[in-house]
Amino acid sequence: MLLLGLETSCDETAAAIVEDGARVRSSVVASQHDLHAEYAGVVPEIASRAHVERITPVVRAALRDAGATLADLDAVAVGYRPGLIGSLVVGVAAAKALAWSLSVPLVGVDHVHAHLYAGWLHEGNGALFDADAMFPALGLVVSGGHTSIYSMESPVVLSRLGATIDDALGEAFDKAAAILGLPYPGGPALDALARTPGANEHAHDFPIARLDRDSLDFSFSGLKTALLYAVRGLPGPSGQATPPVLSERDRADLAASFQRAACAAVVLKLGRALAVLRERGPCRALLTGGGVTANTRLRAELTTFARREGIELRLPPARFCLDNAAMIAGLGHALLAAGTRHDLSLSAVPTTGC
Ligand code: KG4
Ligand code: ZN
Repeated sequence: MLLLGLETSCDETAAAIVEDGARVRSSVVASQHDLHAEYAGVVPEIASRAHVERITPVVRAALRDAGATLADLDAVAVGYRPGLIGSLVVGVAAAKALAWSLSVPLVGVDHVHAHLYAGWLHEGNGALFDADAMFPALGLVVSGGHTSIYSMESPVVLSRLGATIDDALGEAFDKAAAILGLPYPGGPALDALARTPGANEHAHDFPIARLDRDSLDFSFSGLKTALLYAVRGLPGPSGQATPPVLSERDRADLAASFQRAACAAVVLKLGRALAVLRERGPCRALLTGGGVTANTRLRAELTTFARREGIELRLPPARFCLDNAAMIAGLGHALLAAGTRHDLSLSAVPTTGC
């Protein structure tokens, strides 16, 4: 079964062709980073206009790369929530037009949920989905807009255990990068700076928010503020701060210390969540996704965590951690198999449903 997936929730116009919910025949992502860089953040109006211009060429490229034609498609999946409303509507309108004109089913997919599916995707002849071996599972999404932990019964049934009460982890990375004067988008740049040879990740003892003893929620605003004060100086009684003079080495130490604390917070809450799940029964795997799972340090820590806990880890390759349409098509396939279908009344929704 061949699905076309469309993704336009933020500043990436993406289309992918996925076979049987797992084999990625093509995945095309047209990034808009250059359009938003001078504003150091995504400008919604610019994003939606760029999606309109790019959606048709991106779909054509996905079909061409897959060696497929529109007539080969069995269904169309689209990320219809959450995201910038003006961006989402472009993908939803395109998906509805294609599904209607081809007389194939349409399925709307929650983008946050789809990040959890990315670990099932492969580009060769990888193993097929073996739900029995994987579930119940723990899910972790760490992206620019969301940071949440889930209990997953199956690829399509999940419930949220905890989420951030302020910044999402990717947002915290982006703001930290801006504080350190790094270019937009900041997460990958901060990751690279923290990897400077000799960078001391213990140079600063930045806070790791535990919240309540049993809390499965996250908070990254204290960490971000601690970094801000380390870079700009602590304001005195007059409100004025004297910024310290920072060498390149100091900046690398700050990035590495920030990253250590951020990753420690994620692993701390995953450990608590796993304990909660294990009180209820077995937990067989950890499914992860979202842009920050591309982070070098977090990938290493998640690998260590899963090995220590004796659970399988689904950590997608970096290109499927970041926003893409293959994860939309993959989850769309699983949802169709579970009986979900949408009609032409499908509308974009700004918030996640999970
Ligand atoms: O999942 P994603 O592509 O888009 C959203 O759904 O938000 O995630 C984007 C976020 C951005 O905040 C970006 O800075 C962050 O993921 N990110 C990283 C890295 N690569 C992307 N953060 C830290 N280290 C990275 N290597
Ligand atoms: Zn995303």
